[in-house]
Amino acid sequence: MSRSTKVQPLLQVTDLVRHYDLPREKLFAPPPTVKALNGVSFQVEAGRSLGIVGESGSGKSTIARLVMALDTPTSGSVKLLGRDLHTLPKSELRTARRDFQMVFQDPYGSLDPRQTVARIVAEPLEALAEVSRREQRERAAESLAAVGLRTTDMDKYPHEFSGGQRQRIAIARALITRPKLIVADEPVSALDVSVQAQVLNLMQDLQQQFGISYLLISHDLAVVNHLCDDVAVVFKGQIVEQGAPGHLFRHAQHPYTRTLLSAVLQTPAA
Ligand SMILES: Nc1ncnc2c1ncn2[C@@H]1O[C@H](COP(=O)(O)OP(=O)(O)OP(=O)(O)O)[C@@H](O)[C@H]1O
Ligand SMILES: [Mg+2]
Repeated sequence: MSRSTKVQPLLQVTDLVRHYDLPREKLFAPPPTVKALNGVSFQVEAGRSLGIVGESGSGKSTIARLVMALDTPTSGSVKLLGRDLHTLPKSELRTARRDFQMVFQDPYGSLDPRQTVARIVAEPLEALAEVSRREQRERAAESLAAVGLRTTDMDKYPHEFSGGQRQRIAIARALITRPKLIVADEPVSALDVSVQAQVLNLMQDLQQQFGISYLLISHDLAVVNHLCDDVAVVFKGQIVEQGAPGHLFRHAQHPYTRTLLSAVLQTPAA
């Protein structure tokens, strides 16, 4: 392997394309295709965070799934610390997953209701064979403490918690492998406004404490502004504008960014 003195980005996404073939409607017509992503490139430096904003259906969750290697691109690459996640052998991808974890939008659907909190939070460690059951429990306790939950919560089930607490459990699960990157797809949009701020503040504390980078997906510029150094605006499967949040606030070029901004300005301050 060649040694390079150049600092490589934590995450390098290059020309990502994802087209979905839908079932054929007519026997002799080609199957219709949804062009969800049409050449998306961006990078995230270690310890910095990128927000991705865009309207419904613009391709945000598709980006998240491809970055998490939960879906395969039509073309393009996702490199985490220089490793192309979509060409890594399965066993190597499994161990590479310790470096990148995900928090989903729905704190109700994303936690298995039949598992205890301890098992849910320790779940990403299962793929890392060397971690014993006892250590899994200890690390689950540490992770829960980091998100402001108690060790006594470990043997409870998700239904015993509020939406905000469940999202803390999901964040504890993401934290347990000490990842360098957390992909969070609309992490607060299912929560009450008052709880949203608490969860965002927690995410900000964790960012500072553990040097985590977020790839934060949101339709809300205010949420992204809270946590991110940089924002990319996605429109119809392409990045149409990118920059520091403050800069975008002042110099939005694309009409869609302006629409997003006017929505933020109309929202009464919380
Ligand atoms: N598995 C799939 N099969 C077919 N089409 C899909 C699939 N997944 C996503 N799409 C389509 O790709 C486009 C982008 O979807 P995506 O879920 O990435 O949007 P989004 O920006 O996350 O939207 P939202 O804000 O509503 O969550 C949409 O047109 C969607 O219908
Ligand atoms: Mg989505």
